[in-house]
Amino acid sequence: MGTIPNGLAIPGRAGALLAELGDRVVRCDLYDEVGAPVYHDLVGKETYEVRELLTLLRAIPGSVLDLAAGSGRLTMPLLASRRDVTALELSGSMLKLLAARLDAAPAALRNRCTTVQADMSDFTLDREFGAVVLGTTSISLLNASGRQGLYESVRAHLAPGGRFLLSTVALESSDTAPAETEVEFTGSDRGYRLFEYWTAGAESRTVTIFPAVIEEGPVEVCTTSIRVLSAELLEEELRSSGFAVRSRHMLPDPGARHHNVLLEAEAAA
Ligand SMILES: C[S@@+](CC[C@H](N)C(=O)[O-])C[C@H]1O[C@@H](n2cnc3c(N)ncnc32)[C@H](O)[C@@H]1O
Repeated sequence: MGTIPNGLAIPGRAGALLAELGDRVVRCDLYDEVGAPVYHDLVGKETYEVRELLTLLRAIPGSVLDLAAGSGRLTMPLLASRRDVTALELSGSMLKLLAARLDAAPAALRNRCTTVQADMSDFTLDREFGAVVLGTTSISLLNASGRQGLYESVRAHLAPGGRFLLSTVALESSDTAPAETEVEFTGSDRGYRLFEYWTAGAESRTVTIFPAVIEEGPVEVCTTSIRVLSAELLEEELRSSGFAVRSRHMLPDPGARHHNVLLEAEAAA
């Protein structure tokens, strides 16, 4: 197992590669100054979940709060569907990427977007929303008390009849599937190797991203640890936080062992 400076112990082949690289490794979080462009390069323009969210939103009037908005993967199509959108995001580096995308967008679209740097587990905005969206399974970045704060904050910002749309992932275990998967990605001008490590029943999975080609000198390696939160657990938490769960939709599988679910909840009467 390799350990990267300031952090997480990384298991598997990713850990072995880290150990081999030793002190050449420059550790980064996937959403910090170094990691944010990597995240954006990998998935910032992917359309995963977009069609399903826009379909559900058609029946929900009012402006939209996009939580953990990142570089705007969901914000941009929400704006393009003519919604007023508030994009809330904790990382200043991700918000900078979103600002650049908005700057390059037509004024009619840009002018319907408000960006806010805040923590989704504890926020106060001076308005209510027809819908609050938390996509990309980003709820799994919060621990139990963070999720409690999230539910309270979301409830306080939903207009009457408003909906909370959130996605989560179920990971499938099998006796034969390896704990670690490796996928190669090509970004805009560089390649990446992405390792994901998860053993059946484990509470979290670890994602580690290396450059596909390792050059001389320092090597930037991005990591993130993501909880595995079942739809059943989230539905239970939502109900005990005063939500009624109205629907559950299976999303197309993003990976061989990943099964994503989109939940639609509203404040209980
Ligand atoms: C998986 S990315 C999703 C970004 C974007 N929604 C997308 O679909 O590409 C998760 C995002 O959550 C942000 N984040 C992490 N913790 C947060 C928190 N407590 N409050 C707000 N944003 C947070 C990260 O900085 C990152 O941009």
